[in-house]
Amino acid sequence: MKKTVLALGAMAPEEMAALGRLFNVIELHKERDPEAAIRENARDIVGIMTVIQPVRENLIAALPNLEIIACFSVGFDHVDLESARARGIAVTNTPDVLTADTADIAVCLVLNLARRICEADMFVRVGKWQSGKAMPTGTALAGKRAGIVGLGRIGQAIATRLRAFEMDIVYHGRGAKPDQPYEYYDDLESMAQDCDFLILSCAGGAETQDMVDLTILQALGPKGFLVNIARGSVVNEGDLLIALRNLDIAGAGLDVYAHEPKVPEALLTMDNVVLLPHIGSDTLETRAKMGQLVIENLRAHFEGKPLLTPVMT
Ligand code: 8YV
Repeated sequence: MKKTVLALGAMAPEEMAALGRLFNVIELHKERDPEAAIRENARDIVGIMTVIQPVRENLIAALPNLEIIACFSVGFDHVDLESARARGIAVTNTPDVLTADTADIAVCLVLNLARRICEADMFVRVGKWQSGKAMPTGTALAGKRAGIVGLGRIGQAIATRLRAFEMDIVYHGRGAKPDQPYEYYDDLESMAQDCDFLILSCAGGAETQDMVDLTILQALGPKGFLVNIARGSVVNEGDLLIALRNLDIAGAGLDVYAHEPKVPEALLTMDNVVLLPHIGSDTLETRAKMGQLVIENLRAHFEGKPLLTPVMT
């Protein structure tokens, strides 16, 4: 008999179909009464698949036979690891397969902010160019300094890409990485002060919560740009709105927000921001690989084999 997996969200149709061939899948987002669906199937559910929906203590507690939580994401700050650990529940994620695409999105945001791509596109579409108006001038990238917060796999891929644009790279994180050729800043405020682009590619969670506040943004300064492809929680969103409104910083490129899919109303009317709907890993190729990795982790677990990409076992 197929084991039961609770899907909190949807992967691509091909991967959902593949999941369905191996498991009895309860698609919670399609249930009219999600709480009743959990209650009625609580004893059967042995796995959870989450496309970044929270897996908190109450959900874990409601599923007495839960064995594994498979995340369709590299980040796992939406999973209550302590509760999982206490019950011996395995947690897996999808690292590596999304590194290049997510780094590309950071570079897209850097280029967009510097060269005002979205604004320029609109400038042509609404006929401003044709009617003789002057497009505001952009900012050069060559010779500028990018400060990367979190020089993990994605941070390193961003650094490699930005080097090709002749940018100087520095970084901040939990500790210096001696194998990396870039200068390390122990102090985030000092790094923000010294760089033109502050790029966030660190993990979310308690350790990085509100790490970028008004002090850091003011250190970045009126010519500095913020790029966030990490987690909305890393930035104090209220402080960011103040900094953008007061022109304490030049602009921000955001792929993530504190309360997705909600985007602060005030951002929608600002022209010094570029706003993306959390698409860092969103390419056909990468989403397929992420889905396959989720399935392979679930399959490995229930076949008693080693997990491919465990966060913890
Ligand atoms: C999401 C991400 O998983 O990998 C992560 O940590 O934030 C993304 O890749 C993806 O957007 C699905 O929601």
